[in-house]
Amino acid sequence: MLQGKTVILGVSGGIAVYKAVELLRLLTKAGAQVHVVMTRNAQQFVTPLTFQTLSGNPVHTDLFSLYQEQEIGHISLADRADLFILAPATANLIGKIAQGLADDLLSTSVMATKAPVLAVPAMNTNMYENPLYKRNEKILLEHGYHVLEPATGSLACGWEGQGKLPDPETILETAEAVLAPKDLLGCHILLTAGPTREEIDPVRYLTNHSSGKMGYAVAAVAARRGATVTLVSGPTNLTVPTGVKCVPVCSAREMRAAVLEHAESAEVIIKAAAVADYRPAVRAEQKMKKTGDGLTLQLEKNPDILSELGARKGDKILIGFAAETERLLIHAAEKLKKKNLDMIVANDVTRLDAGFNVDTNIVRFLYADGRVEELGLMSKMLVAEKLLDQVARLWSAKRR
Ligand code: PMT
Repeated sequence: MLQGKTVILGVSGGIAVYKAVELLRLLTKAGAQVHVVMTRNAQQFVTPLTFQTLSGNPVHTDLFSLYQEQEIGHISLADRADLFILAPATANLIGKIAQGLADDLLSTSVMATKAPVLAVPAMNTNMYENPLYKRNEKILLEHGYHVLEPATGSLACGWEGQGKLPDPETILETAEAVLAPKDLLGCHILLTAGPTREEIDPVRYLTNHSSGKMGYAVAAVAARRGATVTLVSGPTNLTVPTGVKCVPVCSAREMRAAVLEHAESAEVIIKAAAVADYRPAVRAEQKMKKTGDGLTLQLEKNPDILSELGARKGDKILIGFAAETERLLIHAAEKLKKKNLDMIVANDVTRLDAGFNVDTNIVRFLYADGRVEELGLMSKMLVAEKLLDQVARLWSAKRR
C-alpha cells in the first residue's frame, strides 16, 4: 500500500517523538518516500539529523527558511503528499488545525494539503480527556481527518491512563488502511481462522498446526478495504487486526455456535480455520492416568460447519479453504461442490513455504464455474489481497 507513496511525517513536540523515529524506519521499509516536518518543540526531543539520516531527505523545520522554501516549499510539500501522518500530534497541533490556524511550517502544510491526514495524538491523560481537546478532535473527524486513538498505559508524566502514542506498527497498519481502496465498504464479512482444540481431559487436547496467520491476514486486509469484519478465531498467539471484531472460541462446536450466531448478518463468509473433524467421544473429568502400554481413544465426528452453511446458503457468498497433502485440485474441487461454495482456496500444505504456520503461501483459486487460477509463492497478506479482489468482484456482481 505504501510502496512508492510520498508520506509527510509531521512531528510535534512530546516525549513520544522518539517513537516517530521507529515509525519513519517502518515507513521507509514499506517503500514510502518520507519527508519529515518537525515543529520547533519536537526538535527539543530528537534532532532533525536523526530523521534526516533515516529518511534520506532533508528535514523541514522552518516556514521562512529561504533555502528550504526555494528547494521544496510548504505548498510543494502539501501538494506532493499522498498521505500526511502527524505523530505524535500534540493537543496544541490538533487545536491549531481544528481552529484553522497556520503559524508554522507543519500547520501551514497540513492546511494546504488535499491528501488524507492521519493524526496520532499523544499527551497527558487529563489533557486527552479535557472537553476542549475532545471538541477539537471531533472537529477534525467531522472534516474527514483520520484520528488513531492513543494507547492506554503508564505515561512519561507519571500518570496511568490513555494518552500514549500507539506502537509504530499499529500506526503503520492504520496508515495502510487509510490509503487502501474502500471497495468493500458496507460489506459484512464473517471469517474463521486458526485451529480448534478438542479436549481429551483437563490438560490434553487434539489440535493441528494452524497458526491463524492466513485468516488474520484476510481479516486485516478486509477491514482495511472498508468491510465490517467479524473474526471467529480458534486459539492463536496473534494480535487482532485493527478494526476487526474478534470472537474467540476453542472447540469446533464453539466455533459452530459463534459462526451460526453471526452468519445471519454476514454477506460473505470465508472459512480459513482448520477445524478438527473429530473430537474425543468423552472428555475425562480428571487428568487421565497412565494404565497399561497403550491407549485407545474413541473419537466422534464434529459438525461440518461449512457444509451446514452451504446447505442454507441463500444469496450469501461462501468461500472455503482446503488444506491438502495429495491430489490437491481433485480434493479441493470435491469440497467446493459438496459444500456448495462460490470459491475454494486450495492449499498444498506439504511445502515448507506454504500452508501452516509460515508467512507465505502458494494457493489456487477454484470457482464454482470450474475455473482454476494459480497463484505463485507470495506473502499471506498478498494472498489475502488477491482473495478479496475476488470477493469484491462477486459482491458487487450480487448487488447489481
Ligand atoms: O493458520 P495458518 O497457519 O496460517 O495456516 C493456514 C491454513 C493452512 C490453515 C489455511 O490456509 C487452510 O487451508 N485452512 C483450511 C484448513 C482445513 O481444515 O481444510 P479442510 O480441507 O479440512 O476443510 C475444508 C473447509 O471446510 C475449510 O474451509 C474448513 O474451515 C471447513 N470445515 C472443515 C471441517 C469442519 N468440521 N468444519 C468446517 O467448516
